[in-house]
Amino acid sequence: MAISESTREQMRQLAARYPHARSALLPMLHLVQSEEGLVSADGIEACADVLGITPAEATAVATFYTMYKRRDVGSHHIGVCINTMCGLLGGDAVYEALAERLGVGHDAPTDDGQFWLERIECQAACTHAPVMTVDWEYIDDVTPSAAVDIIDRLARGEEVRSTRGPAIRDFRATERTLVFPDDGLAAEGTPVDAKMLAGLTVAKERGMSAPGVTSSAQEG
Ligand code: FES
Repeated sequence: MAISESTREQMRQLAARYPHARSALLPMLHLVQSEEGLVSADGIEACADVLGITPAEATAVATFYTMYKRRDVGSHHIGVCINTMCGLLGGDAVYEALAERLGVGHDAPTDDGQFWLERIECQAACTHAPVMTVDWEYIDDVTPSAAVDIIDRLARGEEVRSTRGPAIRDFRATERTLVFPDDGLAAEGTPVDAKMLAGLTVAKERGMSAPGVTSSAQEG
């Protein structure tokens, strides 16, 4: 699909944010995904045109990072962390349950185009392993049955809330937030809890500090 003039104008605004315009390529590719659900050939052409680079250079970036997709992701991107902590605590079983329910394998869309399933790397959320993401919002401490239930509720169009963020929207909405972060949802949910602060709490109780770190730096 041809990239609209309004999207091209937003691309130009993104390019103007940076001392070197080509630094805007990453958010521009997310902008394309927010419009089209994938990084299309037309999207690549538009990015290259706005930045004055070749389509091959834009393609090299788009194909290097796994968050950029060359096929339509559909309504919801489903990620399951299978790195060490999540894997040890059941992430592989969560992935297998979802793959069976959705009838799809790694990094691929379902036949109805509603979901995209992907094994993902550590989300820096290991305190709540195993972790699943829906459109990059966290679902913490997930079990295989809870993961399948979330998929079923999304398929029925029911509201699903992330554990520590807002209600799930859809893939394209999240992609737009990655480009324009001020979506008014930053205060939704409970971003920090006692489990996340457990290490810091114990360190303070025991008067522990990292070498070279002053107490004022710790308090900041
Ligand atoms: S290993 Fe899964 S969030 Fe870190």
